[in-house]
Amino acid sequence: MSGITESFKVIETGYKERDNDFLKDVREGLAADSKHLSCRFFYDKKGSKLFEAICDLPEYYLTRAEREILVDQAKAIAAQMPENVTLVELGSGSGVKTQVLIEALLLQQMSLLYMPVDISSSALEDSAQVFLDRFSNLEIVGVSAEYQRGLREVRERIKGPKLVLWLGSSVGNFTRLDAAQFLRDVRASMRSDDLLLMGVDLRKDRAVLEPAYDDAQGVTAQFNLNLLERINRELGGHFNLDAFQHKAVYDENEGRVEMYLVSTREQVVAIDDLGLGVSFEEGEMVFTELSYKYSLTEIETLAEDSDFELLHQWFDGKKRFSLNLMGGVCQMKCVNDH
Ligand SMILES: C[S@@+](CC[C@H](N)C(=O)[O-])C[C@H]1O[C@@H](n2cnc3c(N)ncnc32)[C@H](O)[C@@H]1O
Repeated sequence: MSGITESFKVIETGYKERDNDFLKDVREGLAADSKHLSCRFFYDKKGSKLFEAICDLPEYYLTRAEREILVDQAKAIAAQMPENVTLVELGSGSGVKTQVLIEALLLQQMSLLYMPVDISSSALEDSAQVFLDRFSNLEIVGVSAEYQRGLREVRERIKGPKLVLWLGSSVGNFTRLDAAQFLRDVRASMRSDDLLLMGVDLRKDRAVLEPAYDDAQGVTAQFNLNLLERINRELGGHFNLDAFQHKAVYDENEGRVEMYLVSTREQVVAIDDLGLGVSFEEGEMVFTELSYKYSLTEIETLAEDSDFELLHQWFDGKKRFSLNLMGGVCQMKCVNDH
């Protein structure tokens, strides 16, 4: 563990050093017939900052809608929590919205342990500083890890009740099948009285969705292109960013926004650390991210398929986004209490 103040510690799980995931993903993804790169590599220091800028864009309604729900409902949510709950957050990022909930929880308990789990250690450190300046009776133990590994660390350390927070509709980055599998794993890592509060973006018109992922100022384009910049920075890549374009398209049948990087010309790009040149046709697309949108029925199905009971659901005024409190159903896979 290393700490910047007594109230903030980071559990380093060796995520950054472990088996050079990025190199492996780039090697496999760019050698595939349909090229792809994993969206979890968006979030280096630059990518995390760009995501914060996206959250402020006029087209990106998700953050404002979710924040609106939290502001309106934080007290009601806090009132449903058991005494001395620990707040765990998956993919916490800057944690701007989380502060609303922390404030409400601290109105009903003397102190709070907050355990954010994120692969971006810069996001963990930057947000912790802001949180500790604002809340004096908050202790933060950040976990620098992938979700699953982070949840294991949390389970080993925390014996009391937990609220697991998963905001930003990050569940949308999983296919529907993978989302149910992932949530079953989350459920299995929880004790029977633990709760999950999950933000889920709702299905809506293409005219709203596509600009949310392809804004007029081009910030989302920079965020997407940062994957290629990251290959240049970390793996000795020679991508010319002007030779690729950002593309976001909504597939209404699947209910998902798909993001791609499109090669604007025929080209071969050398990547020194891989010792190879990658060929691109003009117009060839590299798939980078899925963002699934959910109907209310699809949220209920997701809860059922992942052994959760949907206990409560809140919406913003325009019903664009939902916050879902889940818990309850404890099956064989549940970790026994204490
Ligand atoms: C879309 S941002 C959401 C941030 C914040 N929760 C919000 O709602 O604004 C996703 C966050 O999850 C983190 N993240 C993405 N994939 C992850 C993974 N597999 N394990 C842990 N953290 C992850 C990223 O570093 C980023 O901070």
